[in-house]
Amino acid sequence: MKLIVANWKLNPATEKEAIKLAKESDVEGLVICPPSQFLEAVGKVLKKAKLGAQDLFWEEGGAYAGVEYVIIGHSDRRKLGETDEVVARKIATAVKDGLKPILCVGENRAERDAGKAKEVVERELKIGLSLLAEPYTPNPVIVAYEPIWAIGTGNPDIPENMLEMVNLIRGTAIYGGSITSKNAEEFLKHKEISGALVGGASLKSEEIKKIVEIAKKYAN
Ligand code: PGA
Repeated sequence: MKLIVANWKLNPATEKEAIKLAKESDVEGLVICPPSQFLEAVGKVLKKAKLGAQDLFWEEGGAYAGVEYVIIGHSDRRKLGETDEVVARKIATAVKDGLKPILCVGENRAERDAGKAKEVVERELKIGLSLLAEPYTPNPVIVAYEPIWAIGTGNPDIPENMLEMVNLIRGTAIYGGSITSKNAEEFLKHKEISGALVGGASLKSEEIKKIVEIAKKYAN
């Protein structure tokens, strides 16, 4: 089954709205990653969807019950100075703690224009997985290819480019960057794509549920 990951980032504004959105979006095949302050409240109301964290913030705070997935190395974090080495440590911690890490990799616009996209992704992948005993197989890390220039812009990558990159990434990855219910099929229909990481569109329950439905059509 393909995995759809809802990355709510810092939304919604209140716990009440977060609970409402969680209840409305609660379907099988979805991982909901609310802001950390709402993790517990959202976890309590989910019956079908799984709970994910947006980072390994609990290193200081103690684990939250019910968290199954964790996004690591999102470009929002890397932008704030998170290095590949820090990402590697977090991936190793997550695996040790029995969580399923979602490792985000992807080049920015300048790197793509300079023809360095593959180099960047290969480096992020190699270092990001370097502290695992067996970096490639078998391991529980889900890799998300998210070209930074496609995140939150309304301009997704074109499926051909994405497939080329995904082939480089162990032959399978989830894709993130401006996915909506309108374009999801173009991505999810490919067998190499094991799911999608959805930001903006995941804040509308109807949108995210449509995306999950599309993913189900192409279950692999
Ligand atoms: P987007 O965000 O779907 O709004 O482009 C994706 C992400 O940041 O993971």
